[in-house]
Amino acid sequence: MSHKNIVLIGFMGSGKTLISKELAKLLKIERVSTDEVIETRQHRGISRIFQDSGEAYFRALEAGVIAELALRENIVIDCGGGVILNKNNLVNLRGNGMLFYLKASPSVIFDRIKKEGRRPILDVPDPLGTIEELLEQREYLYQKADHTIDVDSRSIDDIVHKVIHLRS
Ligand code: S3P
Repeated sequence: MSHKNIVLIGFMGSGKTLISKELAKLLKIERVSTDEVIETRQHRGISRIFQDSGEAYFRALEAGVIAELALRENIVIDCGGGVILNKNNLVNLRGNGMLFYLKASPSVIFDRIKKEGRRPILDVPDPLGTIEELLEQREYLYQKADHTIDVDSRSIDDIVHKVIHLRS
């Protein structure tokens, strides 16, 4: 039986990476992260790409990776938080995938990302304010997912099983 891809979308720090790894392990399927593919191909980290080549360059690479991944099937795709900004990405991902929005609140996101320095967009004087602002701008795009899962008060296990239940 062929399965659609499991596509995880959501803001930075919403748990896409961890959840996608657990899903891949449990379902014994491949996991692909758009950020990781870009970093491997570019031989440099996301922050460096933003810094040296700019966000527009990164977004073009991201759109290319999404177009490739949309041709695959039965994989888990861990999407960078900004993939929803490009309409084409959503069309491509939806073509062969079921989209899950991992919805986290600003304070939970802030707590998770404050110790990490690898998110150029949040490397600003007021990260919490920026999170709130960006979430407000992006929320309607994340809501285009097939399913929204509130992750704030759920365990990893719970979220993983919810995704598996919803896809079948
Ligand atoms: C971004 C999210 C990041 C990464 C880049 C931009 C965004 O991915 O793609 O820093 O615009 O939300 P994660 O959501 O995996 O951190």
